[in-house]
Amino acid sequence: MIIAVDGPAAAGKGTIARALAKHFGYHFLDTGALYRMVGLAAIRAGGEPITTPAAIAAALSLDPSSFTDAELRTEKVGAAASIVAVIPEVRAALLDFQRSFARKPPGAVLDGRDIGTVVCPDAHAKLFVTASAEVRARRRQKELGSADYEAVLVDIKARDERDSKRATAPLVAAKDAVVLDTSEMDIAAAVKAAIAAVEARRVP
Ligand code: DC
Repeated sequence: MIIAVDGPAAAGKGTIARALAKHFGYHFLDTGALYRMVGLAAIRAGGEPITTPAAIAAALSLDPSSFTDAELRTEKVGAAASIVAVIPEVRAALLDFQRSFARKPPGAVLDGRDIGTVVCPDAHAKLFVTASAEVRARRRQKELGSADYEAVLVDIKARDERDSKRATAPLVAAKDAVVLDTSEMDIAAAVKAAIAAVEARRVP
């Protein structure tokens, strides 16, 4: 059983995907963390601006077990992830790991941008979690503490633009995805709606 959870930055997909994995007893993979690791490694190896060769080298030598670096969660590394994610060779290098993870029994939940369209087009259940850019910026600002709302909104919009307009595996809802707009929902309501959507698709 594979559950794909895609959507833009700060829409709540990570929280929802984790809750789904817990509810159904499945494995969970935050695929954005893989791109963040590549972005961070590329900065550390080659400096900024990130170069394509540094990003490809980082993706090819990635050790996904070193997931614990606190710096991965910063906005700077989120932006770096979105930059390296445009490079087709980087995406190709991360594909096998994601696909083997998805096949782990008894099931897996993967969250990202292209899980339902490219990584696991045959996923049994697909959710596209979204919310307005303004609501997402408010949530991200809260998470970051003191950050300036306008600056966070500009970052979110830049990330949406880059993730949606790239040529390889752009951010787009799969045709058979259930779209969940969480703009007006709290976490409990969003998780409840996500569980109901998956239940409706789940193989018995
Ligand atoms: O979900 P996140 O904010 O941690 O993702 C960081 C960036 O990584 C995102 O802006 C685009 C990229 N990404 C991607 O291209 N494909 C994925 N499956 C996951 C993330």
